[in-house]
Amino acid sequence: MKELPEWYYDELIQVGTDYGSEDEVLSYDRKMATIRNIPKEAEIMCQLINIQPGDEILEIGCGTGEFSIELSKHCKQVTALDISQKMLDFAEKKAKSRKRENVRFVNAGFLTFDSGDEVYDAVVTQLVLHHLPDFWKFIALKNISSMLKSGGKFFLKDVVFSSETPDFDSYFSQLFRTMPPETDEKIVEEMKLHIKEEYSTFDWTMKGLIEQAGFRIEEYEHKNGFMATYLCIKE
Ligand SMILES: C[S@@+](CC[C@H](N)C(=O)[O-])C[C@H]1O[C@@H](n2cnc3c(N)ncnc32)[C@H](O)[C@@H]1O
Repeated sequence: MKELPEWYYDELIQVGTDYGSEDEVLSYDRKMATIRNIPKEAEIMCQLINIQPGDEILEIGCGTGEFSIELSKHCKQVTALDISQKMLDFAEKKAKSRKRENVRFVNAGFLTFDSGDEVYDAVVTQLVLHHLPDFWKFIALKNISSMLKSGGKFFLKDVVFSSETPDFDSYFSQLFRTMPPETDEKIVEEMKLHIKEEYSTFDWTMKGLIEQAGFRIEEYEHKNGFMATYLCIKE
């Protein structure tokens, strides 16, 4: 982990949901297995960023490791970072139980990872960047750019608010009012905590941050007014 000056943002402190808690790790893993098809997501990602068998990929904020493990079936090596040691312990056990030996788990994040001389063919981060305030998102994006080979791909998925939403008060009130009654209460609580305490930003801010950090946005998609994906190329 990099030694950083005292004035640096402390990314090791969990913001919003506490992914450093053992209960949260188990519950997150179960929840994702129910609501996502991660092997399929990894396959789609491989096509999207044209992953080759010899590629070295960095995933930032790997959580319980499912996506890194799936990616590792399509490339030479995945380096999977997370600031939560509990998440990493869980992910590492999962990788061992599935006999995936080409995933390296490292306790570090966007700001603290020391890549040494390593440069990656692609960097992926999903549902993580909103843990940093905007200024630090920019520093994180610059770090990512510096760890990518020239022309390397960067895939970002995160909760990003849409500039097409005319009024956020009524947008969120309506969102919570119209959720299906069977929605898990914990998911609703987490969504509220996300809006209240985490640092999701606007689409126009995110676009500026990505471009100023030295990327060209090749593909962009925004779903449901809050879930954005960006496929970026290092210029
Ligand atoms: C919502 S989970 C997403 C996990 C996984 N990427 C996924 O798509 O399921 C957020 C994860 O990001 C980690 N995290 C939070 N801040 C981080 C940072 N600054 N750098 C790296 N990981 C971070 C948390 O510990 C947690 O495991």
